[in-house]
Amino acid sequence: MHTNLCDLFGIDVPIFAFTHCRDVVVEVSRAGGLGVLGAVGFTPDELETELQWIDQHIGNHPYAVDTVIPGKYEGMGEADPEKLEAQLRAAIPQGHRDFAAKLLADAGVPEMPEDQKTDRLLGWTLATGRPQVEVALSHDRVKLIANALGTPPAEITRLIQGTGRKVGALCGSAYQALKHKDAGLDLVIAQGTEGGGHTGEVGSIVLWPEVVDAVSPLPVLAAGGIGSGRQVAAAMALGASGVWTGSIWLTAKEASGQLEQKESYLAASSRDTVRTRSITGKPARLLRNDWTEAWERPDTPDPLPMPLQGMVTIDMIMRTTTYADKAQPVAFNPVGQVVGSMKQIRPAKDVMSELIDGFYDATERLNRLLLDDED
Ligand SMILES: Cc1cc2nc3c(=O)[nH]c(=O)nc-3n(C[C@H](O)[C@H](O)[C@H](O)COP(=O)(O)O)c2cc1C
Repeated sequence: MHTNLCDLFGIDVPIFAFTHCRDVVVEVSRAGGLGVLGAVGFTPDELETELQWIDQHIGNHPYAVDTVIPGKYEGMGEADPEKLEAQLRAAIPQGHRDFAAKLLADAGVPEMPEDQKTDRLLGWTLATGRPQVEVALSHDRVKLIANALGTPPAEITRLIQGTGRKVGALCGSAYQALKHKDAGLDLVIAQGTEGGGHTGEVGSIVLWPEVVDAVSPLPVLAAGGIGSGRQVAAAMALGASGVWTGSIWLTAKEASGQLEQKESYLAASSRDTVRTRSITGKPARLLRNDWTEAWERPDTPDPLPMPLQGMVTIDMIMRTTTYADKAQPVAFNPVGQVVGSMKQIRPAKDVMSELIDGFYDATERLNRLLLDDED
């Protein structure tokens, strides 16, 4: 399982784990993979706190940080985060706020306490993402910064590579992968449509080899639908230099999600997800429920473009997370189709062991086929 990415990052196995939970980052890196902390929901100060905690617990292992600076969004060009936030806030139609509020009220989800109500702008822009990159780069053990939803702006790539760290980006097509390569990125993450969170339209088994061929010799991490060692072996067979996983960590014992949310994942089948613009304005995969269905109807508002929709839905994310016991019919439960195989809450290190053991079992099975041929 040793590939060039192991040498590049000083890791034992090329298994990358995207998560919003610092405990999972630590567990995966300590188990020989690379934990990746999703930064988008943290303010720069909050991110600093998370990274300090990781530094204190991760030993000598490396880890990564992930940002979401899209190639296109409303308000592009405004560099001042406060001005941008005010400008965007003024552009949100009241009808969208009212519609979202009614969905939650009808479902009986309590409101946040007055001092915790917010419609703040998360890291979905260059103005708010750049400070996150700066915080990440002030931590020595961060060896990679990956970006979602587009090639990172040239100034961000220069900033990261100037400190000797690596920069990568997610893509859902060979076309986007080539843009990443042309921009001088160090690696590409090819995410098939079955993946959780923002995702494109092409399935992993078609996308991975297309991207590998398009950007060779740049290393490609395969993402989207990986929940077992067999799937890791499939990704490597298709030319990937490693795998980038997300959904499977949501039911890790250490993951910070509420028990009710984890139970929704455990109960779901691989047919229970949907790609919807109802959370951020760009298509993202989550568990289908009354919230996702309501925004799809012809008589309801169309989701706003990114990042406006996210400023409408942050209240819903906070409420359905805080009151997870009452909120599951409308909750924010991002996950990929692999949710259908997530049937147990397990320690992250056990998930890592299974990915590794399953990879060896699968490759041994294939090797036996070769031996049978020789007989
Ligand atoms: C809950 C959740 C949130 C996600 N948020 C982000 C994100 O902020 N940035 C990002 O690059 N990818 C994000 N992703 C996508 C993951 O990085 C990863 O590519 C994806 O989960 C891989 O597919 P899988 O879910 O089938 O493992 C998210 C995925 C999930 C499940």
